[in-house]
Amino acid sequence: MVDSLGVAVIGFGWMGRVHTQAYARVPHHYPRLGLRPRLVTVAEEVPGRAEEAAAQFGFASTARDWREVAEDPRVQAVSITAPNFLHREIGVAMAEAGKHVWIEKPVGLNTADAQAVADAVAHAGVHGAVGFNYRNAPAVETARALIASGGIGRVTHVRVRLFSDYAAHPESALTWRYEKERGGSGVLGDLASHGADLAGFLLGDIESLTADTAVFIPERARPTGATAGHTRATGGELGPVENEDYVNCLLRFASGARGVLEACRVSVGEQNNYGFEVHGTEGAVFWDFRRMNELGVSRGAGGSSGPGTGYQDQPVSTVYVGPGAGEYGAFQPGAANGMGYDDLKVIEAHRFLRSIAEGKPHGATLPDAVRSAAVLEAMVRSAASGAWVNVPDA
Ligand code: NAI
Repeated sequence: MVDSLGVAVIGFGWMGRVHTQAYARVPHHYPRLGLRPRLVTVAEEVPGRAEEAAAQFGFASTARDWREVAEDPRVQAVSITAPNFLHREIGVAMAEAGKHVWIEKPVGLNTADAQAVADAVAHAGVHGAVGFNYRNAPAVETARALIASGGIGRVTHVRVRLFSDYAAHPESALTWRYEKERGGSGVLGDLASHGADLAGFLLGDIESLTADTAVFIPERARPTGATAGHTRATGGELGPVENEDYVNCLLRFASGARGVLEACRVSVGEQNNYGFEVHGTEGAVFWDFRRMNELGVSRGAGGSSGPGTGYQDQPVSTVYVGPGAGEYGAFQPGAANGMGYDDLKVIEAHRFLRSIAEGKPHGATLPDAVRSAAVLEAMVRSAASGAWVNVPDA
């Protein structure tokens, strides 16, 4: 018997659309879930946008004010895909109304915001999922298992990179993303939040760090109309970019491993160059989001299996992940049939719904968002003081 679960989406920009499509696709990829999402309502403040979404994707109704969603008895679960400054208010309100929440990263503007949503979710006894989608990639889960099993020896150091050009055009409009009060800390929340989550997912807690940040494009034109994603604007009044374009950070993990996390939103020539290189005493593992179904793996036998196989001159193999890796088998029948970004969101939607169906968490949760936010906040403190700072326990 398949139960139906009424879902709502709040904010129908890029992520609103991706969450909606993910709900629709969950039954295709996970027919045995036992819970079928039903698109009840979509809330959007831009006139006409919710109606368009309803016509295209089949929501039963629309709302202009997200508060209507909290009061809607047909809704049991809510995707919060509005800008960062609304995450806390909407997240807390939905949890208090007894709705399960799937909320986009970075979950608010700072640790206090993420913690407030985490507390409200825990207090209400609902489930909370967070949009740290890169950890859902089957190759990333494979890398994590390889590291945890000692497959590359003791981890010595990691490099996590998130380079993109989505804000590289000087005419990229001055949207909410570039304002401290509505966007938070810029590339830290946008990209480094994913990097902090990935680093923790792969290697455990980050104990301390030192960071340097920069704004490379200090002024942009204000948009003259409604925006979504990375709208361009010319001729509008110029305003200041209030948050970071770039962050570079040295990390010390509780395990003793060291790391570098670098993120930039204005890297000309870089499109979604996200990935990591993890090095251990006996091997290494490499991942690049742009080839997200592949892993570079270098594993030796500590020099014991013949010349050239251990430590030095150790070869690197390309491994195409297949049905045995993470959730790959829900999407493709054999290795090297590509999965894509939206598939990661289907995995996330499934884990969210499965948490509700089984009454126990699957996938990234709000405590993970608090951990990531604590790392970002430590970066901000370190960039201001120039010192090494401890990352508080989340
Ligand atoms: P967007 O600007 O494309 O969409 C935001 C939407 O929210 C817009 O349609 C806007 O009109 C609407 N909105 C604003 N105020 C509202 C209100 N009071 N009530 C209802 N709707 C309202 O932004 P995008 O790129 O979709 O980002 C949304 C969130 O998703 C952000 O928190 C961002 O950090 C996150 N994100 C996550 C990604 C990931 O890979 N997990 C990728 C991109 C964004």
